[in-house]
Amino acid sequence: MATQDLLWQVIPNPAAKTVKERTAILSSPELGFGKSFTDHMVDICWSEKGGWHRPRVQAYGPISLDPAAAVLHYAQEVFEGLKAYRHADGSIWTFRATANAARMQRSAKRLALPELPVEYFLDSLKQLIAVDGGWVPTADETSLYFRPFMFAKEAFLGVRSANKVNYYLIASPAGAYFSGGISPLSIWLSTTYTRAGHGGMGAAKTGGNYAASLVAQQEAYENGCQQVLFLDAQEGKYLEELGGMNLVLVTKDKRLITPDSDSILEGITLDSVLQLGRDRGYSIEQRRVSIDEWREGVESGEIVEAFACGTAAVIVPIDQIKAADFEIRMPEPEGERVALSLRQELTDIQYGRVADRHGWLQRLDA
Ligand code: PLP
Ligand code: COI
Repeated sequence: MATQDLLWQVIPNPAAKTVKERTAILSSPELGFGKSFTDHMVDICWSEKGGWHRPRVQAYGPISLDPAAAVLHYAQEVFEGLKAYRHADGSIWTFRATANAARMQRSAKRLALPELPVEYFLDSLKQLIAVDGGWVPTADETSLYFRPFMFAKEAFLGVRSANKVNYYLIASPAGAYFSGGISPLSIWLSTTYTRAGHGGMGAAKTGGNYAASLVAQQEAYENGCQQVLFLDAQEGKYLEELGGMNLVLVTKDKRLITPDSDSILEGITLDSVLQLGRDRGYSIEQRRVSIDEWREGVESGEIVEAFACGTAAVIVPIDQIKAADFEIRMPEPEGERVALSLRQELTDIQYGRVADRHGWLQRLDA
């Protein structure tokens, strides 16, 4: 169904950073991830009677909420994560944004939230770039991370889906997600906590899944690891995903193995990596994978690499899994790591350094 064109109202931020202030943030070696934000944000209202309405670009700043707003009590919210990349000629592009828009719709459906039309999602990215395009950094491997999100704003304590919802879009200039950059990760295997179960909301990008992961992520830090890996909730045997990334194993005989489960997020980076793998002649196995298969595969020499992948982290090798009572150490790579060569190829596409042969890029500033 065709959606109506939105009539955007743009209210410039009178306290926007100066070019000098912005440049200092963008060129800081401490840029990191998710610490600074652009001058504006998008806000679109939804109500049961009026549908999507009043689309605005306005100053970035606090959101006023009634203390009874449903999201604060029942966590009815969903979000997304994608990036804008600056190409060498200065133009600004995003990567597979339609897939993010579609995933946000699937997440919204699971959380009984209204589905934002794909065109509105894409339009919101363009509208924000039209005012904040100067925030897309230029240094190597930096980007502007978009965080679209939507939540139940209605003030009502009865437990039902809300009749008033808002969609927002904020953006944050980003460098490396991990402080070690692309240094291999140590991963903590949580055997105490699970993230999501069959029929739950693990496949939705919703805050509750991240809330469920935090105590396990704390355990990971306490054990000297950067990320936590969850197992399936039913049997505690099968690999699911990391707190904020998908997982891929690489075999000696050119297979990429990744867990299949209805309780993990369908990663867009993962899907892209699998496509690049296929293009290179790898066979792709998306199936149940047990932690024992990983351990035994490393012992036998069959599994030669493992990596994490997601929008924020891109692709980062894993060199160790730690559990309470065992450890898996990945072998030293022979030659270039597959993870890093896939990362190079993926970022070459994202930054326009090679041809976009799968049609994954979309221009935002024209
Ligand atoms: N799994 C989880 C739990 C995530 O938070 C993310 C990051 O968004 C991913 C997987 C990877 O998804 P994508 O590649 O679409 O960013
Ligand atoms: C992303 O990669 O977009 C995420 O949402 C994951 C989070 C760890 C930042």
